[in-house]
Amino acid sequence: MKDTPGLPQSLLVLGGTSEIALATARRLIARRTRTVWLAGRPSPALERAAEDLRGLGADVHTVAFDALDTDSHEAALGKVFAESDVDMVLLAFGLHGDQARDERDPAAAVRIAQTNYTGAVSAGLVTARALQAQGHGSLVVLSSVAGERARRRDFIYGSSKAGLDAFAQGLGDALHGTGVHVMVVRPGATTPQAVATAVELGLRRRSETVWVPGTLRVVMAALRHVPRAVFRRLPV
Ligand SMILES: NC(=O)c1ccc[n+]([C@@H]2O[C@H](COP(=O)([O-])OP(=O)(O)OC[C@H]3O[C@@H](n4cnc5c(N)ncnc54)[C@H](OP(=O)(O)O)[C@@H]3O)[C@@H](O)[C@H]2O)c1
Repeated sequence: MKDTPGLPQSLLVLGGTSEIALATARRLIARRTRTVWLAGRPSPALERAAEDLRGLGADVHTVAFDALDTDSHEAALGKVFAESDVDMVLLAFGLHGDQARDERDPAAAVRIAQTNYTGAVSAGLVTARALQAQGHGSLVVLSSVAGERARRRDFIYGSSKAGLDAFAQGLGDALHGTGVHVMVVRPGATTPQAVATAVELGLRRRSETVWVPGTLRVVMAALRHVPRAVFRRLPV
């Protein structure tokens, strides 16, 4: 379609109940998307999300997917690509956790790291290879502004996002020139709808990095250079 360059006809969401992912799916369905695969841990919420998107006219399927069960990713996600081409993968799963509690409970902190980083490395590589085999498609990765610089108030989450962000940037470079596009999205405190709007714009422009809101790019460029002794006292 001439009026929708870069926008997908088929979408695979990893983290099928994510509010940001569902806002993005709704927006893309209103534009061009016809088929949606919602991959996530089986639950009534996942089925409700699928029903909601069906109500918008899309053909929606659910797929059992657990980010922590990396051994199953190849089979679970491979099935989707075996059935049809996927124009866009949205890697949306993630856990924020509770910093104070997780500092006292290393096992809980490890779960955050394993979900946000290890799970994403596995699912990212599996889907990137499938997109490469197709010869086209976008992998959109929901990182976070929290990964840009460690903050006292959420450094367990932030460090997992820093790892994810670096991984996704490197993967994008590795896939450059293959026809597969990797886009890293770094939301701050904002609405799912604002992220969805920014994702659409980024897809149209084939951006590699998207900040939401866009002004964060400048703010973080400045904050990156603030000395630690000053940064730790800032209310960020
Ligand atoms: N909201 C924000 O302001 C914001 C800001 C910056 C970055 N982000 C990032 O953007 C992404 C989406 O955020 P959101 O606000 O839409 O999140 P959300 O509504 O809290 O959804 C999180 C998703 O992660 C899934 N998930 C958690 N553990 C999983 C596992 N082991 N296997 C499979 N799925 C798992 C959840 O599935 P279940 O239904 O099974 O729990 C859910 O679908 C996250 O990565 C988040 O870190 C969000």
